Amino acid sequence: MDIRSHTIDAPSVYEAHKAVSIGLSKAHLAHNINYFKSLLATPTKTLCAVVKGDGYGHGMHLMVAELINLGIQTFAVSKIEEAKWVRYLAPQSRIILLCDPLPFCLDEVLQLRVEPCLNSLPDCELYLKEYRAFVQNGIQVHIKVDTGMSRLGLSPLQFKIILDKLPELPTTYRIGVMSHFAKSESPQDRATVMQCERFRECVRLAKSKGISTESHISNTSGTLNNLLRDETGLVRIGIGLCGGLAHPSLKPVLAWYTHLQYIQHITRGAGVGYVHMTHVARDSRVGILPVGYRLGYPVALSNVGRVEILGYSAQVLGRVGMDLMAIDLTDIPLADEQLRNQRVCLISNSVDHTGATHVAQLAKLAQTIPYELLCRLHPGIHRAWEDK
Ligand SMILES: Cc1ncc(COP(=O)(O)O)c(C=O)c1O
Repeated sequence: MDIRSHTIDAPSVYEAHKAVSIGLSKAHLAHNINYFKSLLATPTKTLCAVVKGDGYGHGMHLMVAELINLGIQTFAVSKIEEAKWVRYLAPQSRIILLCDPLPFCLDEVLQLRVEPCLNSLPDCELYLKEYRAFVQNGIQVHIKVDTGMSRLGLSPLQFKIILDKLPELPTTYRIGVMSHFAKSESPQDRATVMQCERFRECVRLAKSKGISTESHISNTSGTLNNLLRDETGLVRIGIGLCGGLAHPSLKPVLAWYTHLQYIQHITRGAGVGYVHMTHVARDSRVGILPVGYRLGYPVALSNVGRVEILGYSAQVLGRVGMDLMAIDLTDIPLADEQLRNQRVCLISNSVDHTGATHVAQLAKLAQTIPYELLCRLHPGIHRAWEDK
């Protein structure tokens, strides 16, 4: 073959990285769904799966398809583009659009039958102008009240003013009343107690005006901590479905793998990697992995992260690079030949929520949150269910 005339097809923008992969567990997803369902007082309460951020980095297409199999019929997303994807994957589902302003996406909202959150006065004013299209097509909206997060939503006073402006609506047409907790991990915190009180008051007010409401405020931690869980009609669960919290009743869905590509033997005192962030204190055996911050392994795990190889734990050595990182193989009692090309687990979906490669433990080490670790996994990494 004359290699000078050899041509190749254009690669796709996100050519899957051969040496890395993400495996997802259907069994763990089903377990987590069942756990949350068991917490809901009545089967009629809606479990809304939050699948923004590409399904928390798991791959929205995979997650939505499997969640439908598991009986989930309500999804929440952040952006209208995500809503399009969910509508494509789940033609019959309810889709709640959490963030995009209504004036930005009114036509698409109506076309796709998406339920927007009215997060501001301009959103509400537009709804008041266009409400007939919503009512005729049976498209619900959700008025968001800022009960203390100081991010999105109407103040309780603005909420009252908007309620007074609502036209008479058919009794079958519900209006969502929603809010979001700033500290749902801290149920006793004064700020959380205050948010609960303000929210209750808003729902009471809407009901007193004869409005048929669907109320919701709790995310994963709010639901786990029973913050108004039993008083509201819907819970919005994201990280909990992924098992991304260190909670004994949740199982991680996502595992991230790569392979050990190279092995280096270095002498005591040698500096490893960029800026010689570490110098080894003994003669060492160093493994090189084809993963770095470009694919989502945080620099903050330099020198502190841990990975697993053949059941052994190994520490990250030195600074995580763009496409490479080093691990310490010195204490592993296996020969180079036994280790080379072996699978390395960067994030594990084992049920041990205290394990060093559990996403919540890695996030703690990196001084971040599991949400960020998961969402930053590069979309070009191949994702697939491990248990078919
Ligand atoms: C408005 C809203 N509801 C629910 C969720 C889901 O939160 P969690 O992933 O903690 O369940 C989020 C996530 O950020 C959100 O922004």
